[in-house]
Amino acid sequence: MGWTSTEFAENTASRPGKVFPLVTLALLAALLAFSRDCYAVDVIAAQRLARQSACVACHSVYQKKDGPAWKDVAATYHGQADAGQRLYLHVTTGRKARFDDGQERDHPIVKTSDPKRIQNLVDWILALPVAAPVDVKAAESLARQSRCLACHAVEDKKEGPAWKDVAAKYLGSVGAEDNLYKHVTTGRKARFDDGHEERHPVVKTADPDRIYNLVNWILSLR
Ligand code: HEC
Ligand code: HEC
Repeated sequence: MGWTSTEFAENTASRPGKVFPLVTLALLAALLAFSRDCYAVDVIAAQRLARQSACVACHSVYQKKDGPAWKDVAATYHGQADAGQRLYLHVTTGRKARFDDGQERDHPIVKTSDPKRIQNLVDWILALPVAAPVDVKAAESLARQSRCLACHAVEDKKEGPAWKDVAAKYLGSVGAEDNLYKHVTTGRKARFDDGHEERHPVVKTADPDRIYNLVNWILSLR
């Protein structure tokens, strides 16, 4: 992961006695701009902060709840240079938010004062849905570890439905995320093609962030 501007500034400022000639400063500025562009979003950390801050009570990536779907927020701000700053303020200052019932209430703020974590969450939201809705590698490895792939594949139906078809089935339906979370954690009965029912396997982790990441990955498949 690249350095954020603040980290960079702290690092350079903490070296006493160093005077940067102007040329070096210009170079630094260019470097900073560059490292910002290729700064990779930490998807798991973003989702964790969203959950810790209870944002997910009103928001999800794909579905509108009380708040807009975050992929729609990303679409609204697409290409706007100051989008990052505006959303940063939105999630840190508790400005008034207008709800569907017409009322205005203070919008909740994130439960951290670490600017890097906040920026990471905002960057993640703005990168939705194409750039980084989920950590694909982490999702795939959890699916492998949990032996889901014995019965599932992304494209093809095996004993279980193709995950692409699961995504299509739930497209736009409210609560899909929570429903699938329960499906892969509680061992509910699953009906197989031959008509028999058995408990559906559960994921081999208790970390909700990793589980939501897997579920969101499945829901993001096209
Ligand atoms: C109680 C419900 C609720 C919670 C909890 C909530 N939001 Fe919102 N959020 C809303 C509503 C409603 C809007 C639409 C506000 C408006 O358009 O005035 C919104 C809008 C947004 C937007 C879009 C802002 C814009 O300028 O378009 C972002 C981004 C956002 N919320 C992020 C978050 C984050 C991050 C958290 C967790 C700290 C969070 N929300 C928690 C209800 C909520
Ligand atoms: C022994 C075979 C088997 C394994 C292993 C298995 N599944 Fe399934 N899965 C199924 C079957 C069969 C269904 C269809 C259940 C139904 O419709 O009642 C299903 C359905 C699903 C669905 C769709 C649920 C819905 O509401 O439409 C998801 C998502 C899913 N499985 C994820 C997983 C994950 C994640 C794992 C690994 C933890 C996993 N499955 C492991 C057989 C399996």
